[in-house]
Amino acid sequence: MAKNAFDYLVQGVYIVSTQFENQMAGLTAAWVMQSSFDPPMLAVSLGPSRQTAQLINKSGKFIVQVLDETQRQVAEIFGYNSSRSFDKFSKVLWSRSEKLQLPVIDGVLAYFECELVGRFESGDHFIYNGRIVNHKMLKQDGKPMHFVMRDWF
Ligand SMILES: Cc1cc2nc3c(=O)[nH]c(=O)nc-3n(C[C@H](O)[C@H](O)[C@H](O)COP(=O)(O)O)c2cc1C
Repeated sequence: MAKNAFDYLVQGVYIVSTQFENQMAGLTAAWVMQSSFDPPMLAVSLGPSRQTAQLINKSGKFIVQVLDETQRQVAEIFGYNSSRSFDKFSKVLWSRSEKLQLPVIDGVLAYFECELVGRFESGDHFIYNGRIVNHKMLKQDGKPMHFVMRDWF
């Protein structure tokens, strides 16, 4: 595929997950940004067909987890399969977040627990704006994974 200007955007690699009733879903996301300092907020751009997006629509909450640069396998499990047909969480070790009790994958550097405060259409995606209600730094020594020029670092 030809390179284009978007390839020059340096992006982080995150796992966004949620739970509604007994259904869990999570995906790999690169389109994540801090959207407010006070109150602290994060925004994530999600395609409407993603199972994770559809469950966030019902649960009104999500968690953004910062992948360590060594977690490429996790990024592939969550980025190349849909939770609709594949139990991604059976392939990784995970536990529950402190406040919202959402699934957190072992080995991530940090997480942000968010309550959904707005959802905006953005072309073929929707931007989910979340107010951070709790966050936790889990590792001091790791480096966050990033994605640039269609490759992971
Ligand atoms: C590096 C990478 C970054 C991605 N970033 C996003 C993103 O920001 N938003 C999105 O909707 N999908 C993104 N995806 C695609 C989803 O992770 C993928 O479609 C996933 O299978 C959806 O899972 P779900 O149906 O369980 O929600 C990305 C995939 C990869 C590999």
